[in-house]
Amino acid sequence: MKNIVILISGSGSNMAAIVKASQRDDWAAHHGARVAAVISNKADAKGLAFARSHGIGTLVLDHKAFADRAAFDAALAERIDAFDTPDHPVLVVLAGFMRILTAEFVNHYAGRMVNIHPSLLPAFAGLNTHQRAIDAGCKVAGATVHLVTPELDHGPILAQAAVPVLPGDTADTLAARVLTQEHLMYPRAVVNLLFKT
Ligand code: GRF
Repeated sequence: MKNIVILISGSGSNMAAIVKASQRDDWAAHHGARVAAVISNKADAKGLAFARSHGIGTLVLDHKAFADRAAFDAALAERIDAFDTPDHPVLVVLAGFMRILTAEFVNHYAGRMVNIHPSLLPAFAGLNTHQRAIDAGCKVAGATVHLVTPELDHGPILAQAAVPVLPGDTADTLAARVLTQEHLMYPRAVVNLLFKT
């Protein structure tokens, strides 16, 4: 049985989509995996309540309580690795986790940590992706699921979903259209990865 640990910072709608899919489709029986925990670096992350109400253990690890990035990442890895045993290898899923991770942390989870980014990578790595896509005159936008490597938003691409950019779109309307696709794509991409890891 694989232990999926999901890291969030905010609303956690992608995490919720994964939890719902894992329970609805009985990933434990069909894919040998369960969502073991949701960890947030913010105590007020909305997604925490959803996770708890769906029977998932949660943990808050406030990055501000640590001296530096390396200390936070080391503590985070320790918490995640508590779910990583020979019988229960861990898969780390970043879902709106708004922290830049050290290379040491990323390398520790090489091949077993994924992220979802709200653009069609390699276009628009980084922040404000929807406004940047609108400003660039893009006619399509979307989201990408990728393996995490030390360079931000640059790992091997596992899945992509595209949506049209419509006349009059704002960053918010485009984000909402993209997010709908993220919720469909991310659970599927995680299942696909379960077969490969
Ligand atoms: C999503 O757009 C995701 O692609 C990006 O951050 C947003 C997180 O949204 N990494 P949510 O917390 O999953 O609702």
